[in-house]
Amino acid sequence: MRFDLKTSRLTTVMCSLLFALTTVSAQTPPSGALTANPVFHKNCAKCHGKTAEGRHFGGPPLVSDKVSAASADDLRTIITNGQGRMPKYASKLTPEEIDTLVEQIKALNKK
Ligand code: HEC
Repeated sequence: MRFDLKTSRLTTVMCSLLFALTTVSAQTPPSGALTANPVFHKNCAKCHGKTAEGRHFGGPPLVSDKVSAASADDLRTIITNGQGRMPKYASKLTPEEIDTLVEQIKALNKK
């Protein structure tokens, strides 16, 4: 069969379309905000507040001097293994989901 330019163009278009669709439907884009992450709302907001401002009888704010001083590794350890009344998420979230949360918490503290 001889090389068909039309078919090859169509293939390119289909591929970019597919790529665009998977990008849009990804659940937790690392560039997104913590407060827009469904994983945060499902697992963390009940204690740390919808906007991560903290709750009096739940958890401390996730935007604080303490959190901004903590390293990404510290935060990952706290979320993975828990600390005090903070539950551990090792078996509830994937390492990727925890990484995304860590990045988003860090990003929130940079503002
Ligand atoms: C049952 C309530 C509860 C839930 C749910 C919860 N946390 Fe916490 N979290 C806490 C408490 C309480 C602390 C303080 C722990 C301590 O130092 O004793 C804490 C501490 C933290 C810290 C350290 C902040 C600091 O100032 O030391 C981070 C980061 C954190 N939580 C993130 C998360 C994330 C992300 C989730 C969701 C995956 C989550 N937490 C879910 C209660 C909760």
